[in-house]
Amino acid sequence: MSLKGLFITGSSTDVGKTHTGVVLAKSLTSKGIKVIPRKPVESGCSPENDQLIPADATALKRAAAYDGLLSDVCPYRFREAISPRTAAYLSHQVLTTKQLTDVCQFGAEEGFLLVEGAGGFYSPLSEDGLNADLAQSLGLPVLLVAEDTLGAINQVLLTAEAIKSRGLELRAVILNQAKDYASPEGLNNLEELHPMLDCPIYTQPYQEVTGDCDMPDDLIALLTR
Ligand SMILES: Nc1ncnc2c1ncn2[C@@H]1O[C@H](COP(=O)(O)OP(=O)(O)OP(=O)(O)O)[C@@H](O)[C@H]1O
Ligand SMILES: [Mg+2]
Repeated sequence: MSLKGLFITGSSTDVGKTHTGVVLAKSLTSKGIKVIPRKPVESGCSPENDQLIPADATALKRAAAYDGLLSDVCPYRFREAISPRTAAYLSHQVLTTKQLTDVCQFGAEEGFLLVEGAGGFYSPLSEDGLNADLAQSLGLPVLLVAEDTLGAINQVLLTAEAIKSRGLELRAVILNQAKDYASPEGLNNLEELHPMLDCPIYTQPYQEVTGDCDMPDDLIALLTR
């Protein structure tokens, strides 16, 4: 199945994958592009009325104004805030890359498929695979989000190499200002990475998602091309 969409991965956990997915989904939706959000497995869910609520999936669903079910966006939910593979194991469940692929592909031909993995590209996702295996199984171009801090160059270059080794396209890198404080003086990851990467690199400022926030048009055009 050849799908139109993106697989969002990160240089690590907590670097702004969901934030970026939300900004992208909002921007695409406001341009009339139908977004199909998928966070096929989420750990660290909070219990509410006998249910586990997946925060990332909920945010992506809302940003995309998705009219499908939250259980279509994220059917596999775990309470422990650890890797989905281990969380599933602790819940005596076995998740496979095939199951996660099926979740992402369901209904995906109806729009632009936006998939968020968990953690980084080589973080374990299922019993038999990493994020990389799901991305490969879906065959989607990859958007790499890295926190724009000291250490980002190493993380971005390693992940870029891993993405390439899987035969996938690294569509763009986003250097994300995930926290509301200034970078160390003189730090310029964008400038340093430019000659070392053969894909576009963007910086994303610290921004509240509650207000109007959207992505630059050239980045949207690149991500949806
Ligand atoms: N550019 C930004 N502006 C403002 N807040 C941000 C930005 N990027 C990230 N954040 C905040 O930083 C925190 C971590 O971001 P986010 O949840 O998007 O990371 P993640 O990579 O999806 O994490 P996880 O691995 O848990 O899925 C969140 O509270 C988010 O709102
Ligand atoms: Mg997230």
